[in-house]
Amino acid sequence: MKNISIIAAIGKNYELGKDNKLLWHLKGDMAFFKEHTMNKYIVMGRKTFESLPKMLSNRKYIVLTRQNHELNDDIIVMHSIEELIKYIYEHDEEFMIIGGENIYRQLLDYADKIYLTKIDDEKNADSFFPRFNENEWNCSVLDNKEENKIKYKHLLYEKK
Ligand SMILES: NC(=O)c1ccc[n+]([C@@H]2O[C@H](COP(=O)([O-])OP(=O)(O)OC[C@H]3O[C@@H](n4cnc5c(N)ncnc54)[C@H](OP(=O)(O)O)[C@@H]3O)[C@@H](O)[C@H]2O)c1
Repeated sequence: MKNISIIAAIGKNYELGKDNKLLWHLKGDMAFFKEHTMNKYIVMGRKTFESLPKMLSNRKYIVLTRQNHELNDDIIVMHSIEELIKYIYEHDEEFMIIGGENIYRQLLDYADKIYLTKIDDEKNADSFFPRFNENEWNCSVLDNKEENKIKYKHLLYEKK
């Protein structure tokens, strides 16, 4: 089954975020994120959920937490990776894992694809994307972009 995809944007040092916020706000990357998550399940950790400024429309939310958080009725709350994987394997759709670090680390081994935006910049960070063995993946460049003098590229890794 090929339905687990990770999507992330990282800096030169694999930086993801700081103080539960994103490090860059690149319009072209937001558009890429929207294109690849629209009408799909998006899976995130509770901290990433809390970091989002608003509910993203036309996406089916799954939020992972070990606590009894009261969330909106439209959100599926799950309490373990096992529960999530069982649910994913019962549904023949693409699930987009949208972060953050904690969730990427636990789900990288299950992923079939990684949509990775590599940003040619570095920033102070407290969360990082896990290093992974590039030899296990086929990589293609989907696009090269530049915004506010920052160069970045969208890569697609597909598990060999
Ligand atoms: N650059 C990017 O593409 C990108 C994307 C997403 C996020 N980010 C950044 O990443 C940072 C947040 O990452 P993070 O690692 O701190 O937090 P996170 O992965 O978003 O959320 C962690 C939380 O998820 C829950 N959780 C984790 N594993 C679980 C499991 N096995 N079962 C049930 N619940 C589980 C726990 O919630 P409870 O504490 O409620 O139990 C845990 O505290 C922020 O700075 C954010 O801006 C960046």
